[in-house]
Amino acid sequence: MDGSRELEKLAAGEALTKEEYLRLIKDRESVRDEAADLAVRTRQRYYGNKVFIRGLIEFTNICKNNCYYCGIRAGNTAAERYRLMPEEILSCAGKGYELGFRTFVLQGGEDPYYTDEILLSVVRSLKETYPDCALTLSVGERSRESYRLLKEAGADRYLLRHETVNAKHYAALHPADMHYGNRMACLKTLKELGYQTGAGFMVGSPGQTDEDLADEMLFLRELKPEMVGIGPFIPHKDTPFAKEQAGSAELTVFLLSLIRLTLPDVLLPATTALGTADPMGREKGILSGANVLMPNLSPAGVREKYLLYDNKICTGDEAAACIACLKARIAKTGCEIVTDRGDHARHI
Ligand code: 5AD
Ligand code: FES
Repeated sequence: MDGSRELEKLAAGEALTKEEYLRLIKDRESVRDEAADLAVRTRQRYYGNKVFIRGLIEFTNICKNNCYYCGIRAGNTAAERYRLMPEEILSCAGKGYELGFRTFVLQGGEDPYYTDEILLSVVRSLKETYPDCALTLSVGERSRESYRLLKEAGADRYLLRHETVNAKHYAALHPADMHYGNRMACLKTLKELGYQTGAGFMVGSPGQTDEDLADEMLFLRELKPEMVGIGPFIPHKDTPFAKEQAGSAELTVFLLSLIRLTLPDVLLPATTALGTADPMGREKGILSGANVLMPNLSPAGVREKYLLYDNKICTGDEAAACIACLKARIAKTGCEIVTDRGDHARHI
């Protein structure tokens, strides 16, 4: 069986059924090169050879949640905790600005210290100091009011992965106090409030099926997020999923192509998890339709503490070294790193 027909349909902008997506996913060995080719061509139509970089500031690894897969879950007493203070976040952004970054992503655990009041003042200071920069938040589930105030204070974008589209699967990845319905409602709220919104899921998390992955594609087509973050699940030694099998980089890369073809103008990162699962993962991601990289700007001293999974790459490198490394890697893919805000095509 060959999924070429489905691929051509998808590349022509036609909607696939769940069965067609499923056939592609099951038949990925034979169609992945063609999928990558079509995905790169599609990306080029919207963004040329540009790969956008976002400066990631992992500002707290304190988290009240206990997701079974995550290394900074509250229950992991072996994790060494840290929290950057607002002025440290600002200075981190300042260093990033000098390195050319024009998008900052503030990412952290759900840390109760970062109340609306404190987070709002960080957002305001960042936007006042760097009015030419885009600001992305990735701080988990908050109230509609909180999301609204943060938007009003100047946040432009929000990343909140739904992790899995399947409610039963969600319940197998999270403890009972975390709710699929709430996660999905948050995504909807973020879109309604006018954020450029990023959804996403882990690839190969325990219990995930090919059917689930086909449903992920249908869900993304319906939600139309401006950004989609996916990466392979990688076990962390101090979590309940320590002994589970890792997700595959190959499947992740193939899904990047399907996402590019499904949402042609989406902003699609080749993630650090992908670069961890395969030393050439990020390059392969770019060569399969991804167009965003998110190098780390966090201070060297805290980097090795933001460990969501084992063997995370780039934890020992200074931001400047990381950029130089990325530039060299990306040049080899025929793409070029650009530092502008790289808004979603719909928002330019
Ligand atoms: N492996 C891969 N990705 C993970 N994340 C959390 N833990 C892991 C893991 N063990 C991802 C989740 C989360 C994002 C910040 O990191 O998808 O949304
Ligand atoms: Fe970080 Fe290569 S990208 S060192």
